[in-house]
Amino acid sequence: MSTTVAQTFKDQLSTDLKARTDGGPALEPFISQLDALDCANTQSLPALPTPPSVAAHLAPALATLGCAPGLADAVRQFAGVARWYQIFEGEGIEPTLAEGLVAGQLAGQVGLVTSDTIRTGLFLLAPGLHYPLHQHGALELYFVVSGRLTLQYGTRAEPFTLGPGEHSVTPSNTVHALTTHQVPTLVIYAWVGDVESPNWWWVEAREGGWDRVCWERQPDAKWIQTRSEAVTDAVLAEAGEL
Ligand SMILES: [Fe+2]
Repeated sequence: MSTTVAQTFKDQLSTDLKARTDGGPALEPFISQLDALDCANTQSLPALPTPPSVAAHLAPALATLGCAPGLADAVRQFAGVARWYQIFEGEGIEPTLAEGLVAGQLAGQVGLVTSDTIRTGLFLLAPGLHYPLHQHGALELYFVVSGRLTLQYGTRAEPFTLGPGEHSVTPSNTVHALTTHQVPTLVIYAWVGDVESPNWWWVEAREGGWDRVCWERQPDAKWIQTRSEAVTDAVLAEAGEL
């Protein structure tokens, strides 16, 4: 059952990405990881209580899927068996934002199938949220299947908005922020490359410049805030901000 759901989802996603003429080489790392994913590596983890945001927002998001029919069927099928969890826990995040960001892993440490080289699945964002500027070493795919997602890449860049069926690739270490609109947003996400990298949230320093707060992934895949530091010139350069 899990193998079939995972196989169908990753095959449909890979096929869709390969057909994208606007994807260029940026999509190749995701396609190769999806094609290499062994869906026989299923795992059975304890069930979790359904997060309130899933109860409130998943059904309306699934009712307005805007991707290709085969992929939409796969998304619906996986969404029904996914082990949904709240991504951020603990201190350092507003409760509304924390509760509004939930995910279900198809592949990864808590996925339907295990993988050390790709983390992929569904990411459900509540309406009216702003996920502030952050960066990570992993290369990231966002593929909107329902709702609208406004993205900002870089501290000075103009935001742009993706609708259903549209995707973006966030380069490694580029800071990015996400904003949702009046409806729930459902996204297929994928991380490849440095999938163990921490998630650094950037905040403007009182004396000018930037500080960054480190969120580290725990064995249950949730992120917990662990430390903070000033953003150095080397980090700015790595982020393409100099
Ligand atoms: Fe990201």
